[in-house]
Amino acid sequence: MVSHGGMICPCSRWPQMHGYIFRFLVLVVVICESLIFEGVHGWTYHYHNRTMTWNKARQFCKNNYTDMVAIQNMEENKYLDEYLPKARTHVWIGLRKIQNNWTWIGTNRVLDDFAKNWAPGEPNNGRNNEDCVEMYIKRISHAGQWNDESCRKKKRPLCYKASCYPDSCSGHGECVETIGYYKCNCHEGFYGDNCEKVIKCMRLEASDRGLMNCSHPYGNFSYNSLCDFNCVEGYEIPEKKTLKCTASADWTDPLPQCKVKQCMWLEVPSKDVMKCFGPLGRFSYNSTCTFGCREGYVVHGSDRVQCLASGQWTDRTPTCKVQVCETLTLPDYGNMSCTHPIADFHYNSTCDFSCNEGFTLNGLSRIQCKVSGQWTAQKPTCEAVNCSELKIPHGLLINCSDPFRPFSYSSRCDFVCKAGFILQGSERLHCEASGQWTSKTPICKAVQCNLLKIPNRGIMQCRSPFGDFNYNSNCAFSCNEGFVLQGSGNLQCQASGEWTAQVPSCEGMTKSGIILFY
Ligand SMILES: *[C@@H]1O[C@H](CO)[C@@H](O)[C@H](O)[C@H]1NC(C)=O
Ligand SMILES: *[C@@H]1O[C@H](CO)[C@@H](O)[C@H](O)[C@H]1NC(C)=O
Ligand SMILES: *[C@@H]1O[C@H](CO)[C@@H](O)[C@H](O)[C@H]1NC(C)=O
Ligand SMILES: *[C@@H]1O[C@H](CO)[C@@H](O)[C@H](O)[C@H]1NC(C)=O
Ligand SMILES: *[C@@H]1O[C@H](CO)[C@@H](O)[C@H](O)[C@H]1NC(C)=O
Ligand SMILES: *[C@@H]1O[C@H](CO)[C@@H](O)[C@H](O)[C@H]1NC(C)=O
Ligand SMILES: *[C@@H]1O[C@H](CO)[C@@H](O)[C@H](O)[C@H]1NC(C)=O
Ligand SMILES: *[C@@H]1O[C@H](CO)[C@@H](O)[C@H](O)[C@H]1NC(C)=O
Ligand SMILES: *[C@@H]1O[C@H](CO)[C@@H](O)[C@H](O)[C@H]1NC(C)=O
Ligand SMILES: *[C@@H]1O[C@H](CO)[C@@H](O)[C@H](O)[C@H]1NC(C)=O
Repeated sequence: MVSHGGMICPCSRWPQMHGYIFRFLVLVVVICESLIFEGVHGWTYHYHNRTMTWNKARQFCKNNYTDMVAIQNMEENKYLDEYLPKARTHVWIGLRKIQNNWTWIGTNRVLDDFAKNWAPGEPNNGRNNEDCVEMYIKRISHAGQWNDESCRKKKRPLCYKASCYPDSCSGHGECVETIGYYKCNCHEGFYGDNCEKVIKCMRLEASDRGLMNCSHPYGNFSYNSLCDFNCVEGYEIPEKKTLKCTASADWTDPLPQCKVKQCMWLEVPSKDVMKCFGPLGRFSYNSTCTFGCREGYVVHGSDRVQCLASGQWTDRTPTCKVQVCETLTLPDYGNMSCTHPIADFHYNSTCDFSCNEGFTLNGLSRIQCKVSGQWTAQKPTCEAVNCSELKIPHGLLINCSDPFRPFSYSSRCDFVCKAGFILQGSERLHCEASGQWTSKTPICKAVQCNLLKIPNRGIMQCRSPFGDFNYNSNCAFSCNEGFVLQGSGNLQCQASGEWTAQVPSCEGMTKSGIILFY
């Protein structure tokens, strides 16, 4: 036998490939040879004339081809018998008893009834160790049928060579062996002879304001491509979905659209004011609303809110509260009467002021609470009525008590004169509510002493600060030449109205020093 073995026609390798049309087999042998040499895939049988044990035979098949043959159907048996040359030994096939079951070693499948082709009386386990199977080739009887044999027997190997390679179908299909060639049963999403083409879906473009993030496991916008969508700030996709390109070349969902984020609808009482500006839609992202209140009320809270990208307003809607002014208390020395159309000391409250007797209002008698929360004027005060300021003449001592302010309502002034003076007028003055003193300011008159006569032959010289011969007048006396003063040369008018001494006299004098009285 020639060592490189024979090559004969292929048959279906796979269980699902029953029922091949064997009348083309002869033709196929030719095709096979040429195909092999051209390197195109297709599966083929190969045998070898050298005999070997089952294990060696299997090794031989695996080393040089794909594996030992597995037989799918009756026709295959018949075919192999017809086309394999007759020799001294029959051939090993890839069937073995494993744990008492006849098993195709290539696929590890237990022999099924459909392909069973035992020769009559077989398997008989004749020598009690017949765990391998040979096929009778060109035997007088039972050609093409099987016999269990001891695996140590030496027989010719019968191999097949598969034409499917791992990448035959581009990794995207099942490679199915067929006569002289193979066929790809493409996985979902793939097509083409070698499943080299992938189903393509419509190319997607992110919508306006949208962002797209796709993964393309098999090609741009192709089968199993996944696209996620997002929106620019302030926009959203209401029902977010991941789009998938299906085997039918459709996307699982329509292209999502980005909608502007919507903030809560705002409302204010009809009397109040809300002005909104929504560049992208009413109460939508970037809308701003400003608030105002009816007259006399003020915004409590933020008077401006904005719709954020999160769909939240920057602040709560404000409320309107009536404007409040400072609470007023009764003025000192006066009275206050207020009207409060809305609430105490709130917008439009009006207060009238009056003062007690002896007091006058300093400020406006009526003030009102303005929209601004300010009174129209400062709260007035009640001030004591002023009497004229008293001018104190010389010699007068004044002692006033002023309950409010000097020389004002209720002031009381007592007067006394210094020693040497006598009060003329009222000793006590009151400042009345009318702003008038009860009487005129009194005056102090200097005490009067007697008129002094100038002594004979003498001179009198007086200084009188408060009037001639009045209190504190001082009179000095002197005599003509040749005369001497008898008595005090100086007299003063005292507070009692008395002079300090008698008026002196001037007397003549002798040579002996005797004073001569005239
Ligand atoms: C194997 O042996 C047979 C019969 O002797 C012969 O016809 C055939 O050519 C041989 N095959 C090879 C490949 O040598
Ligand atoms: C087949 O494989 C065996 C090893 O099992 C090797 O010795 C032999 O040369 C190979 N034969 C052919 C024809 O390639
Ligand atoms: C033989 O195969 C049958 C069914 O295929 C299974 O139930 C049984 O367990 C197998 N026997 C052994 C010994 O593996
Ligand atoms: C796109 O999606 C991938 C995987 O989910 C992620 O790693 C990547 O950061 C995303 N890119 C963008 C721009 O969102
Ligand atoms: C996918 O698209 C990119 C850019 O449009 C292109 O460079 C690349 O070749 C494409 N890939 C495939 C597999 O079509
Ligand atoms: C929203 O307003 C901000 C500034 O307030 C501006 O920068 C941004 O462009 C606006 N967005 C849109 C979509 O108009
Ligand atoms: C002050 O005004 C109130 C309200 O007008 C009045 O009832 C009250 O009698 C007044 N009090 C005085 C002391 O005048
Ligand atoms: C407040 O007073 C003014 C007049 O002073 C009046 O026109 C206005 O209606 C009042 N407003 C309220 C809210 O009472
Ligand atoms: C009384 O006089 C004082 C001081 O001169 C002055 O401040 C005050 O305003 C006056 N009061 C009145 C009611 O005129
Ligand atoms: C002023 O009068 C008060 C009481 O009227 C009295 O207590 C006080 O001593 C008097 N002062 C003078 C300096 O006279």
